[in-house]
Amino acid sequence: MKAVVYTRYGPPEVLRLADVQTPVPKDDEVLVKVHAVALNASDWEVLRGTPLYSRIGGPFRPRHHVLGSDIAGRVAAVGRAATMFRPGQDVFADILDHMGGFAEYVCVPQAVLAPLPAGMTYEQAAALPQAGAIALQGIRDKGQVRPGQRVLINGAGGGAGMYAVQLAKLDGAEVTGVDNTEKLEFMRSLGADHIIDYTREDFTRAGRAYDLILDLAAHRPAWAYAGSLRHGGRYRYVGGSVATLLQVLLLGPVIGRAGRKTVRLLAVRLGAGHLAPLVELCQAGKVTTVIDRRYPLSQVPEALRYHGEGHAKGKVIVVVE
Ligand SMILES: NC(=O)c1ccc[n+]([C@@H]2O[C@H](COP(=O)([O-])OP(=O)(O)OC[C@H]3O[C@@H](n4cnc5c(N)ncnc54)[C@H](OP(=O)(O)O)[C@@H]3O)[C@@H](O)[C@H]2O)c1
Repeated sequence: MKAVVYTRYGPPEVLRLADVQTPVPKDDEVLVKVHAVALNASDWEVLRGTPLYSRIGGPFRPRHHVLGSDIAGRVAAVGRAATMFRPGQDVFADILDHMGGFAEYVCVPQAVLAPLPAGMTYEQAAALPQAGAIALQGIRDKGQVRPGQRVLINGAGGGAGMYAVQLAKLDGAEVTGVDNTEKLEFMRSLGADHIIDYTREDFTRAGRAYDLILDLAAHRPAWAYAGSLRHGGRYRYVGGSVATLLQVLLLGPVIGRAGRKTVRLLAVRLGAGHLAPLVELCQAGKVTTVIDRRYPLSQVPEALRYHGEGHAKGKVIVVVE
């Protein structure tokens, strides 16, 4: 089969399209014929090996040689004990733990697979797992957004931000989206009430305070974020710099305590099985998946560059013919 492989960290040029052995499913695995793979910031991070946390499991060389974690496709074969699925069934999954989506076939443990939601295309389903889980847990489960609250989403023009803005609006919040100049109109089109261009303005210095800051691109000191929270407000770090992560972990428990503010890491429970509420909203047409661009498997390097260099509005999808 064809797969896009790499053996050392680096720019998209280290990737190459190669002929490799089609994997054989172990007892509890399912062989999936991949039809669509969505790009995530984590692909870009694990390709380049930066930030440092992306090297967990492979400090010097990548642990997995094929990237791509949010997949949708059709079951081609099942292992002896994989009784939950049958060949011909349409499925989707988040396979961040083992990757391998940029390929014609991938083996997936049956426990992490879910049936393709009714009425969804492969592309729409592939867009959901990682971005959807971050948004759902950041805004609803852990975010507990209430009507009238002020919510700021930092990095709102990307994949997780696209869903987070829409969920926060549905929950009645006043939403501020922060991203680069190219994505301002996109955030507005998702429903953001206010938009901030981070290349021109530092929202932590604007004197406005929020009930929830969901941070998909944290690069400022943790205390600056705490200073932008209202009394009882919550800051949740999802991704960004290691320096900010360490500050959140080490200083988070004490920063802002006086104002009953909380500054924490949002450790997202990933997996297609946790997405039901968001899947229902998508099926009902209340939440939209915006696919900015589609690329063939042979153009994964170009797709990763487009996404990694910050042009993607919503999701970028690799379509595997
Ligand atoms: N905590 C967890 O359990 C967990 C689990 C999975 C993933 N993650 C993390 O979640 C994060 C978000 O993922 P995603 O899929 O939404 O990424 P994405 O699609 O790349 O979106 C991130 C957005 O942030 C923007 N951005 C970059 N620097 C910024 C800054 N200084 N201020 C404001 N916006 C900025 C990016 O635009 P530009 O680059 O163009 O400026 C992009 O639009 C990733 O860092 C990923 O590693 C965390």
